[in-house]
Amino acid sequence: MQRSRVSVRGVDAVGRYALLRVERGGLDPGEPGQFFMLSPPGRVLPRPMSLCLAPAGELAFLIDPVGPGTRALVALRAGDDLDVLGPLGHGFRLDVERPLLVGGGIGIAPLPYLFERLGGAPALLGFRNAHFAEAARLIPGAEVVLEPTYVTERIEPGWDILACGPEPMLQAVAELAPSAQLAWEAPMACGYGACYGCAVPIRGELKRLCVEGPVLHAREAA
Ligand code: FES
Repeated sequence: MQRSRVSVRGVDAVGRYALLRVERGGLDPGEPGQFFMLSPPGRVLPRPMSLCLAPAGELAFLIDPVGPGTRALVALRAGDDLDVLGPLGHGFRLDVERPLLVGGGIGIAPLPYLFERLGGAPALLGFRNAHFAEAARLIPGAEVVLEPTYVTERIEPGWDILACGPEPMLQAVAELAPSAQLAWEAPMACGYGACYGCAVPIRGELKRLCVEGPVLHAREAA
């Protein structure tokens, strides 16, 4: 992990979300599913963001501007400075035979980079409505479902599932596929194991998702 001050390259609208692009500098993009702590200007706490894309010389993060911190991140302009720490946590294991990427809402954020690193894979994405679903264009060939249809209604047996999304979606995927790899979302203050802000009870033990996760096997989290 590295702490770095990098320059913003731009913020692109992607339907309801925004893609924040920063110069890569000396930062390692890490493995898909790992995350970076981004420090929004004027806010005390950094925000954890999965890496979405890693084009040459850049790192890109898909952001849903729902609160003051995320709104400050998407208000950045080309040339602004941003403090970045990462890559952090454990990402997805890529040694799977029949990968199927499954994402819900802003949970699709780590999947474009995962798609690239796997050299392509089928993807099944669920969104609230067509405006949110514009983000599906980040994953070529993805199948999209809109509420009230849920991704779990379309999952067939035999796939190695790599998923990220809201907790009810991940719980439903875990029941269907105990071997699935699931990237969990959690509030995080430090990102490297020091504050327990991300701790969740797993099998009777408190686990820090920023260290043990955010990607866990479904059977570990059950
Ligand atoms: Fe601080 Fe995980 S965010 S311990």
